[in-house]
Amino acid sequence: MKKKESSEQRRKVVIVGAGSVGATYCYALAQSGLADEIVLLDRNNDLVQGQVLDLVHGQPFFPTVIIRSGSEKDYTDANVIVITAGAAQRPGETRLQLLRKNAEIVGNIAEDIASHESKGVMLIVSNPVDVLSYVALKRSGWDRNRVIGSGTVLDSSRFRHLLSSYCGVDVHNVHAYILGEHGDSEFAAWSMTNVAGINIDEYCPICGKCSDWKKQRKNIEKQVRESAYHIINYKGSTQFAVGLAVVRITGAILRSQNSVLTVSTFIDGEFGIKDVCLSVPCVVSDRGVIRIIESPLAAEELASLSNSADILSKAIDSLKGDARDVS
Ligand SMILES: NC(=O)c1ccc[n+]([C@@H]2O[C@H](COP(=O)([O-])OP(=O)(O)OC[C@H]3O[C@@H](n4cnc5c(N)ncnc54)[C@H](O)[C@@H]3O)[C@@H](O)[C@H]2O)c1
Repeated sequence: MKKKESSEQRRKVVIVGAGSVGATYCYALAQSGLADEIVLLDRNNDLVQGQVLDLVHGQPFFPTVIIRSGSEKDYTDANVIVITAGAAQRPGETRLQLLRKNAEIVGNIAEDIASHESKGVMLIVSNPVDVLSYVALKRSGWDRNRVIGSGTVLDSSRFRHLLSSYCGVDVHNVHAYILGEHGDSEFAAWSMTNVAGINIDEYCPICGKCSDWKKQRKNIEKQVRESAYHIINYKGSTQFAVGLAVVRITGAILRSQNSVLTVSTFIDGEFGIKDVCLSVPCVVSDRGVIRIIESPLAAEELASLSNSADILSKAIDSLKGDARDVS
């Protein structure tokens, strides 16, 4: 007879923050069949109860999965702890004030997770995701591989979608990455972009679909960078694609897939950069980021990566000397 699955083998995910992104991610994760148990936490207890009830009523239509509200004790045996908790910007509040507030929220959660001796991977989604991943890493005291941010996995997926529709090729045949900050200084790594294994520089001339592909590339890159602003202007926030991007990262961790994903990770000398978290191609597995792939980037791409690093360093420095000092 097959041995009963032990509790260690159960795939457990804890989501801290049951708002729009946390709940959408939970909904997508439940449908994916990747997790056996999903636990929702939020400082707004009514919200958690409501989200859990709404989700479990769909259970006959999901693969078998437990969805429930929980407590900090659930951190201990979780495989992945996803942080989507955060405060929204208030009228008159500056970006720096919001950064400090969210750094305090995420830093405290990270410290709490570490104090419960979790062996899992911490995955930060709250924005600004790169700075908050850095704060969570420092405040948890964990090894750098186990604290990661969703980084530009979402932006890379937006990039692939746009290239696919522009080139008229299935998105699954388009491999393309956005690197750097998840934000205004992010950039397309054109040197790593390929369609069906053909580097984009060779693909564009033979495709013949457009004569001005160099100009189109700039437009596509700009559209990726501005995507979130457009969605927020239309409906106030983004939730669906980010939810799916985080399910993709979660799957790589839960199934130890060694997937190459542009998560935000602590950089310690790679690409000539130090002491920031930002997105570069990483191999993601059950222990988090197990390797950084130092892709041979073009000179202008390397310059864009250092520009992102400088911007993020300044944002981290702006937290130092504060009550929430991360140094
Ligand atoms: N990284 C990405 O690609 C990406 C994409 C979209 C949104 N986001 C970010 O995700 C975060 C969540 O967005 P949202 O739209 O779900 O916001 P939301 O306001 O709907 O949800 C945030 C939730 O966090 C909870 N919360 C706040 N402090 C908490 C704490 N200390 N402990 C537990 N829960 C706490 C709130 O009660 C709220 O329910 C934001 O920071 C947003 O900018 C990131």
